[in-house]
Amino acid sequence: MVRQKFFAASSVIVCAALALSLSLTAAPKLGGGKDGDAAKGKEAFEQCAICHNVDNDEKKMGPSLKGLFKRKTLASGKPVNDANVLAQINAGGNGMPAYADMLSADDKANILAYLHTL
Ligand code: HEC
Repeated sequence: MVRQKFFAASSVIVCAALALSLSLTAAPKLGGGKDGDAAKGKEAFEQCAICHNVDNDEKKMGPSLKGLFKRKTLASGKPVNDANVLAQINAGGNGMPAYADMLSADDKANILAYLHTL
């Protein structure tokens, strides 16, 4: 009887510990949006670099994105923040393709992280 209780109690503890460690390891993957990987974003940005400079201010097809997050506003007049830049990436327009369905949420988070480094 005593042994059984001990087993029951310890398996509850083991389960709780397992659940906790699972949720801890899963958490960063669910984070999408905030914790992008700038190095991966740089790779994904290659498809954007056809139209956007990042190391000089010269306009290509689209405006240079050098220092994007150091600016106050986008060309549209909206403030530069993750939400507005993401909206631009998703919707495109005026010569820029819409990336809403072309990039995964991870890709977009990584690209945003990369844009923050410019
Ligand atoms: C075919 C060319 C083209 C490609 C590819 C392209 N863009 Fe653009 N992008 C543009 C043009 C043109 C504009 C200006 C749109 C406007 O003025 O409304 C723009 C605007 C932007 C802006 C707003 C800049 C500002 O100062 O307001 C951001 C941010 C941006 N693009 C990011 C990206 C990212 C990230 C990618 C890749 C996922 C990308 N673009 C791919 C052509 C392109």
